Amino acid sequence: MSTINYSDKIPNNVNLSEDRTLQRALEQWQPNFINWWDDVGPEGSTNHDVYLRTAVSVDPQGWAQFGHVKMRDYRWGIFLNPGDANREIHFGDHKGEKAWADVPGEHRANLRRIIVTQGDTEPASVEQQRHLGLTAPSMYDLRNLFQINVEEGRHLWAMVYLLHRHFGRDGREEAEALLDRRSGDENNPRILEAFNEKTPDWLAFFMFTYFTDRDGKFQLSALAESAFDPLARTTKFMLTEEAHHMFVGESGVSRIVQRTCQVMNELKTDDVGKLRAAGVIDLPTVQRYLNFHYSVTIDLFGADQSSNAATFYSSGLKGRYEEGKREDDHILKGQTYKVLEVQNGQLLEKEVPLLNALNEVLRDDFIRDSVAGVGRWNKVIEKAGIGFRLTVPHKAFHRNIGALAGVKMSPDGRVISETEWEARRGEWLPTSEDRAFVASLMGRVIEPGKFANWIAPPVMGINRQPVEFEYVRFG
Ligand SMILES: [Fe+2]
Ligand SMILES: [Fe+2]
Repeated sequence: MSTINYSDKIPNNVNLSEDRTLQRALEQWQPNFINWWDDVGPEGSTNHDVYLRTAVSVDPQGWAQFGHVKMRDYRWGIFLNPGDANREIHFGDHKGEKAWADVPGEHRANLRRIIVTQGDTEPASVEQQRHLGLTAPSMYDLRNLFQINVEEGRHLWAMVYLLHRHFGRDGREEAEALLDRRSGDENNPRILEAFNEKTPDWLAFFMFTYFTDRDGKFQLSALAESAFDPLARTTKFMLTEEAHHMFVGESGVSRIVQRTCQVMNELKTDDVGKLRAAGVIDLPTVQRYLNFHYSVTIDLFGADQSSNAATFYSSGLKGRYEEGKREDDHILKGQTYKVLEVQNGQLLEKEVPLLNALNEVLRDDFIRDSVAGVGRWNKVIEKAGIGFRLTVPHKAFHRNIGALAGVKMSPDGRVISETEWEARRGEWLPTSEDRAFVASLMGRVIEPGKFANWIAPPVMGINRQPVEFEYVRFG
């Protein structure tokens, strides 16, 4: 396994020093990246020494080393999982052919688009989260936020490497544009809608990392199957980091729920007003945040029927989640899949060609995966002896893309009137009062081992350090 040479300006395991043109292109992009980081990266963090995990090799045992570093000095690095010279394409029309070490001309535009769309989400989330450090509920949580931020930065590097290495001048232009777009900017927004939403508070942050980083997991998993081998190997390595982001989300929501249940039992009440007065986040508000982030995230998978999705699959650019574990012909012609549509006020299932429904297939895989964690949150509530249960809303709830866009639907899956929607949306989605209340709880708690009142401490610290470890040294 190759270890990274830290004397290189850009740590990598892709023999960067042997490609001087590429190295120079990346060295020119690097200062622009740092400018971007200074401009819209974590606010007020420049002088902090943060206990971060840094990739030093892609070996399963050795890809993480921990130590205090300043984030702008983080070694972002370019890492590909080890290659297999005999790897074959295992789905689509090129099935059985040798995987591609470079981009075939006929797939160039589509591959570039896929890489740019993935790459765009990485800096976007850093921008969305840039103010959160100012209201961290603990030093432990602050460190986790920063860890996620630097890794999203590294994921941007990973995509930029592919653009520079394989797409020539267009690739270099796209790499610049990735630093120019801004989350939520009216004139030059990020590509995907969920990445233009605000992440204004820590409940939103934990929901985002639970649900939206999980979208990342599924997109990366589908790209990890790609016939374009450098993309497959890059995304495989990114997935190891994504797991931590989802852990932060799942454990964060779990600790909020745990603390709320504790206070519910102490005060023997489920009265929202009393719980809010006690400074914890009532479970109905947690549910409304969940509904919002879940629905916005499942839109990210795209239209339920998409000829692009069919093209991406058949041409070998993007597979299904765990393609290799599926027992079918991996070509999928002539097969069908069920998607939803509303006809005459009725929600109906409709059989469509499977190839055209691959966005929906990936969305359904995502849904199964995200439901599992919600079940674990419910275990916390159940253990506290409380009757409330969190649920994911119906797939058609609050959708903004595909056949279900704009359909008025209750979270339990009833097609409803515009009037009922308007009357009840405040029960189902966070209201401005909810958001203002959650915002009112956000204050900075940064003494080692101390936690904000609205969240329970974690079970253990990072990298076997104690919970009260000094994860961030403030400069
Ligand atoms: Fe990422
Ligand atoms: Fe992530």
